[in-house]
Amino acid sequence: MQNSKINVIELFAGVGGFRLGLKKANPELFEVVWGNQWEPSRKAQDAFDCYVHNFETGIHSNEDITSVSNETFIDLEPNLVVGGFPCQDYSVARTLSGEKGLQGKKGVLFWEIKRVIENTQPKYVLLENVDRLLKSPSSQRGRDFAVMLATFRDLGYTVEWRVLNAADYGFAQRRRRVFIFAYKNGIAFEQAQNNYSKDQIIFSKGFFAKPFPVELEPYQDRITSVTLPTDIVSISDDFSFGFHTGGIMKHGEVFTAHVIPVEEKPTTLRDILIDESEVDEKFYLSESQIEKFAYLRGPKKIERKSADGHVYLFSEGGMSPTDDLDKPGRTMLTSEGSTNRSTHIVEVNGRKRFLTPLECERLNGFDDNWTSTMSDRMRYFCMGNALVVGLIKRMGKRIEEIEKLNTQTDIQLEMSLKS
Ligand SMILES: C[S@@+](CC[C@H](N)C(=O)[O-])C[C@H]1O[C@@H](n2cnc3c(N)ncnc32)[C@H](O)[C@@H]1O
Repeated sequence: MQNSKINVIELFAGVGGFRLGLKKANPELFEVVWGNQWEPSRKAQDAFDCYVHNFETGIHSNEDITSVSNETFIDLEPNLVVGGFPCQDYSVARTLSGEKGLQGKKGVLFWEIKRVIENTQPKYVLLENVDRLLKSPSSQRGRDFAVMLATFRDLGYTVEWRVLNAADYGFAQRRRRVFIFAYKNGIAFEQAQNNYSKDQIIFSKGFFAKPFPVELEPYQDRITSVTLPTDIVSISDDFSFGFHTGGIMKHGEVFTAHVIPVEEKPTTLRDILIDESEVDEKFYLSESQIEKFAYLRGPKKIERKSADGHVYLFSEGGMSPTDDLDKPGRTMLTSEGSTNRSTHIVEVNGRKRFLTPLECERLNGFDDNWTSTMSDRMRYFCMGNALVVGLIKRMGKRIEEIEKLNTQTDIQLEMSLKS
């Protein structure tokens, strides 16, 4: 069967992790027609420049997404909208007049995603966020995610989500993120899913279960369901719920389970290191840096003062002085490479050093030298913001399967209408 293209809008594109993953899944199928990336309050737009350097086709937009008009999206007719966006406060209130609808907090980027979906009605939406999203805010656990699910319900979508630690599925980094896949009610895939129970979808048949298998039983019987209140403002005001690592929401009915991944052999830090002869001298730690990192990574108890003058004891446990080369890397943060306890330190041939920017690209599965247009500091920063490309590749292949099902059904429907 001939594939027709899936037009993609990539929001919050950074250096293009989603786009690269989709390209690796099937370069003929996914066509990114519009990629938007804008680093707030900075003149230099390194991530955007890197994106332009690596991808030729489609429109590259370097604008604040909040200033992009609805008409811009409508004309693009996307079938898929993707993006990794920040975890912010998603509470909503009624507008003062009451009739005009709902008001979310200003500057909250999820409402921009909603605006794009509302205006373009794509078949699929694929999003990434920190796993904390499922629990936030701490004062009203699960409120933000419930507001998000209710938003998708009201837009006519079914949502599946899954917390994935990339290392569990064979990748080189222990990076836990929640992935959210929404699909339009009424498409063939959604109809086909109606043949399964919600737990079958979570454990074996759903969007995530096939490319990222899990044990067929939940962890410690943690499996629950809830009906979202119809009124989104009441969700925002009062609703609280413990969302687990896997789940589905259909027509406001939520079903969620703490899933156990069927682990694959991980890639280790050692596997992604470049040949030591190619490591520039600047990446090796000086004596004073060795001392500084020994302190930062060591256990400590320090007296600190809060903003209101309250004195408290800050304590943190010790980490090993260097990262274990026989394990996957830890989560890479935007501060990677700076004097910070979360920065990776490796010891090779008896010498301690930082990971090079190229090794950081490998931790995320980007092609070597993907970010070579930037300074080292920005290369580390952009990799800390990015995602594990191989996860998106698997999701892209899954979307391809789903799309085939949708296309076949469309053809059958057309033929039955003709006969
Ligand atoms: C978590 S990062 C996404 C990284 C991306 N997935 C990648 O692979 O590099 C979020 C991105 O959103 C961008 N961003 C933040 N506010 C924005 C806005 N108002 N308009 C457009 N982009 C914005 C940031 O500059 C950042 O690159």
